[in-house]
Amino acid sequence: MAFAILSSGGDAAGMNPAIKKFVDYCAKLHIETYLIYEGLEGLIDNKIKKASHKDVAGILHLGGTIIRSSRSKRFFDFQYRKQAYENLKLYNINNLIVLGGDGSFRALEVFSTEFDMNFVGVPSTIDNDIYGTEYCLGVDTALNVIRDSLDKIRDTVASFNRAFVVEVMGRECGYLALVSAMVSGAEICVIPEAPLSQEALQKRLKQEIQEGRRYVLAIVAEGTKKTTQVYEWIEEKLGLEARVTILGHVQRGGNPTVYDRLMAFDFVINAVDYLRKNEQVKKVIVYNQGKFTFKDIQEISSQKYQLPQHYLKAINYLERP
Ligand code: F6P
Repeated sequence: MAFAILSSGGDAAGMNPAIKKFVDYCAKLHIETYLIYEGLEGLIDNKIKKASHKDVAGILHLGGTIIRSSRSKRFFDFQYRKQAYENLKLYNINNLIVLGGDGSFRALEVFSTEFDMNFVGVPSTIDNDIYGTEYCLGVDTALNVIRDSLDKIRDTVASFNRAFVVEVMGRECGYLALVSAMVSGAEICVIPEAPLSQEALQKRLKQEIQEGRRYVLAIVAEGTKKTTQVYEWIEEKLGLEARVTILGHVQRGGNPTVYDRLMAFDFVINAVDYLRKNEQVKKVIVYNQGKFTFKDIQEISSQKYQLPQHYLKAINYLERP
């Protein structure tokens, strides 16, 4: 019995603590472990290395993933999935932990129907867009990076009569934008999951500007593709000079927060225990209401994540007429 770990898709803070815990915890249980470098691409190309404590020493505090990642197009081609499986067999690896997001899980789902390999996917993406889990590794760190940037932007916007339009990541999901808008006290939040009630917002903000409001902070989720539209609308309709900041990949970096380190440990320990105690495992570990459970890969990859209702209500608050 040998276990391996890989990281796939966008890196997320918390991957390194997860990799470290995986190697250290398995060593304690006398389980042989392997590191697969460069995600599913590396699996196809046999970039597999036996792990030792030395490989994971001093990485706990680092963002990104020391085993690197990739977005593999080749993995969607059967011949490369077969090659990947054969590479795993070369090392007698029969248990795999995949740190990844929904793209990686879709690839795994296909793999699971063709080859006999036990695996647990650990939701790891700053987007927090995976069905069936309240939390994905890396989200807390990304939110803190965004919060820190917005606090700084507020310093400068408050020094002028201006508006700032800040675009945040999240792919098709508005989670990062919504939570960041809530905790940063933004006046405007635009996400794919909720229509922007432009008229009501315009009326309210114009009135507030007349009454003395000097600046406006708007958060726009990248998935809406409305950053320029919001900027132009603010300049034209609210009459405020505006600036646009696209936070970009800075949101993916940074040392994992305490929460992401602890979540990484819990995700991995539970995943390893599940794999060693069960057979025919093709699951994703999920976290809901303080508990870790396991769901079939098919269930996870076939459904769409929904934003929590109580957070969505915050949009109404942000846009109150
Ligand atoms: O999925 C994580 C994410 O950072 C998204 O928020 C973003 O749209 C995408 O990855 C960017 O991908 P890449 O790093 O390949 O440019």
